[in-house]
Amino acid sequence: MGYRVAVVGATGNVGREILNVLAERQFPLDEVAAVASARSTGDEIDFGDSGETLKVKNLEHFDFSGWDIALFAAGSEVSKVYALKAAAAGCTVIDNSSLYRMDPDVPLLIPEVNAAHLDAIAVQQKNRGYDGGFIVTNPNCSTAGLVLVLKPLADAFGLEKIFVVTMQAVSGAGYPGVASLDILGNVVPFISGEEEKMEEEPQKLLGKWDGSRFIDAGMGISAHCNRVPVRDGHMECVSLSLKKIASIHEVAEVLRDFAVDDELASLPTAVRNPIVVVDEDNRPQPRRDADAGNGMAAVVGRIRECSLLDVKLALLSHNLVRGAAGAAVLNAELLAVRGYLQYRNASKLSVAEPIAR
Ligand SMILES: NC(=O)c1ccc[n+]([C@@H]2O[C@H](COP(=O)([O-])OP(=O)(O)OC[C@H]3O[C@@H](n4cnc5c(N)ncnc54)[C@H](OP(=O)(O)O)[C@@H]3O)[C@@H](O)[C@H]2O)c1
Repeated sequence: MGYRVAVVGATGNVGREILNVLAERQFPLDEVAAVASARSTGDEIDFGDSGETLKVKNLEHFDFSGWDIALFAAGSEVSKVYALKAAAAGCTVIDNSSLYRMDPDVPLLIPEVNAAHLDAIAVQQKNRGYDGGFIVTNPNCSTAGLVLVLKPLADAFGLEKIFVVTMQAVSGAGYPGVASLDILGNVVPFISGEEEKMEEEPQKLLGKWDGSRFIDAGMGISAHCNRVPVRDGHMECVSLSLKKIASIHEVAEVLRDFAVDDELASLPTAVRNPIVVVDEDNRPQPRRDADAGNGMAAVVGRIRECSLLDVKLALLSHNLVRGAAGAAVLNAELLAVRGYLQYRNASKLSVAEPIAR
């Protein structure tokens, strides 16, 4: 017994990774559909390493009714029309685009950070007249790693100001991404819309749902975003000021000790300790560390005093996994165990035993 899951944008960087994660983590499936544009309709694509292939379906002719979950990874223009259609048809929509992330009734979800924001779903369904369907969104790929690391620090010490400089991988730009002559041996100090997302999304993620609206966390955030010639894994150099005085040792301990509860740890795509602290001076590095925790952990190193703010550190997270595909599947797993997918078949939920890692 499982769910009927449609992956929209299945031929793209994120969509292919979603299929990999669904197959690898053994998400309970009755059926999976690979959906994309007319350009790739009829193409055969791999369902991860399962040995199965899927024939790509044309989104224009795809009927979402009867599908339990629609994982969208086809950009904002597609989500603008089809994510709404899917939610109206009763689907649980998990959207990777930025379009609905800051909507006042849409959870922007990182399960390890703000699962309580799922309470907004009932308000969304009422506001929008959805009968069973709803939309949940994933954060921007750099925001995902940053906020995962900020969460335990916010809880332990409070956060006042964050200054972050990113070095973002080419796979974050979609396929075929940045032209090779623009990125090989080069750095591009601009990614359209990225700094704005990094400055606003953490406020919602680390803020609160008060029963009728989201209250921002109210931190000061300044972000510089750069594209660098790295394949996978976004690096971020972060300086922060804390509300409470803390030693570097205490900051490192809080990050090292960050662990999720049993419910979350039982989800196949989750890791018990989603932050890995490394001690070597020259880590984290994308090539060596991006796959930590099956790509779901943020790797933190170089925790030290900052002469302008209080603390500085380097962090790395896998943009396609933690920042998109793994995050989307983890959201689906959480929604499943919390009973949000019981609309169609109340008896279905059983997420597989966690995979040993
Ligand atoms: N890459 C990342 O690290 C990352 C991280 C977080 C979030 N995101 C977000 O995830 C989304 C997908 O990103 P990506 O990097 O995977 O992009 P991508 O590699 O360019 O893939 C785009 C996908 O969307 C499909 N598509 C485009 N226009 C369509 C249309 N009109 N109808 C149906 N399908 C259409 C494409 O299908 P065809 O093959 O048929 O053209 C392809 O499957 C974007 O919103 C992006 O901002 C990406």
